[in-house]
Amino acid sequence: METQVGIVGAGPAGLVLARLLELRGISSVVIEARSREYVEQRVRAGVLEQRSVDCLTEAGVADRLHAEGMVHEGIELRFGGKGHRIDFTSLTGGKTITVYGQQEVVKDLIAARLESGLPLLFEVSDVSVDVERPLVRFTHEGSEVELSCDVVAGCDGFHGVCRETIADVLTIYERVYPFAWLGILARSKPSSEELIYSNHERGFALHSMRSPSVTRSYLQVKPEEDLDEWPDERIWEELNARFELDEGFALNEGEIFEKGVTPMRSFVAEPMRHKRLFLAGDAAHIVPPTGAKGMNVAIADVEILAAALERWYASGDESGLESYSSDCLRRVWRVQHFSFFMTSMLHRPADQDPFEAQLQHAQLEYVCSSEAAARSLAENYVGLDKV
Ligand code: FAD
Ligand code: DHB
Repeated sequence: METQVGIVGAGPAGLVLARLLELRGISSVVIEARSREYVEQRVRAGVLEQRSVDCLTEAGVADRLHAEGMVHEGIELRFGGKGHRIDFTSLTGGKTITVYGQQEVVKDLIAARLESGLPLLFEVSDVSVDVERPLVRFTHEGSEVELSCDVVAGCDGFHGVCRETIADVLTIYERVYPFAWLGILARSKPSSEELIYSNHERGFALHSMRSPSVTRSYLQVKPEEDLDEWPDERIWEELNARFELDEGFALNEGEIFEKGVTPMRSFVAEPMRHKRLFLAGDAAHIVPPTGAKGMNVAIADVEILAAALERWYASGDESGLESYSSDCLRRVWRVQHFSFFMTSMLHRPADQDPFEAQLQHAQLEYVCSSEAAARSLAENYVGLDKV
């Protein structure tokens, strides 16, 4: 099999890249380890920055996103029994975010790819990459395949094979946090028009949503938390405790139809390119979810890669490919810092000492009382245009 760009992984990074290349007349083959059903049902991120929405719109895959996505103009930070609104629109000159599930983005991209009749192979196994030739080898429907290409895009997420292939040349930066998120989806009407990030003595909690009748909520828990210890009643009790307000507050409850625990880490592998292999998205970097950045930075990576490949194919100009890694890493590290900042400000480590607790409180008070501090949070949350 032959193509121009071999894309390993059909998450947001791989599928957006495939679409951007299609629009530039560059051929690609996308291979994915899981089934179509699995990737379309995998519940993950929910917040799209304005620039991600713009990218998907320009790529012609945002009709449903515009019809069903929920545009939000701010978020609430809740602590000490009070809520404090961060107004994105006034602080960032009119920018907003859109709440739309990652699996919906993935469904829209898969539908567009199949409608164009372009190769997207699910349930491949034994994937390996030869970065010299370059070549991707895999098994599909019982046959061994050799995909020969000009470049390979490693979009296979944190547990993929591409990063491992070039492990010898990578520098790794990593932090693992002493907590995880227990996430749920429930059939209940959102209890607030906007997302609520709550710092409470019992731990962090986040109230989000997927539609006018489905909510998504998260609780800070231990990394090794056993889901069996979290019957639905305990989850609602804990969420209600962590979202308490002096004036009184109760969540709208409903049937919980999805539960999962996600560990939290910060991770960067540098450089993001070696020879003809380009890493993009979670394959190269992970952020803790508190800043809602993972999917957005994955999309930003492949926008840079698609533009660099377009220039290279059009005129042989390699400069965009040469600077791909450093161009991406500027945003990656900005986003790392923001995600670390949000995580540190909002979570309560089990061993938090009183000094740290006071610093955290001072930071929350500052963000909610200083326009300059609020603007800094807002411009990072809605996403910086230029980094
Ligand atoms: P992935 O989505 O991981 O895609 C990689 C794909 O490669 C997968 O489909 C995988 O099956 C496939 N694959 C793996 N190995 C192979 C192989 N050997 N061969 C072929 N295919 C392979 N981000 C946000 O922006 N906003 C949020 O609000 C947000 N919230 C989150 C909440 C949670 C609970 C979690 C877990 C994550 C959240 N994120 C958020 C992060 C976001 O989901 C990820 O950053 C995003 O999925 C990255 O996309 P990706 O395409 O790089 O990787
Ligand atoms: C969601 C996830 C996040 O990580 C976040 O910061 C905000 C919202 C969500 O899944 O809706």
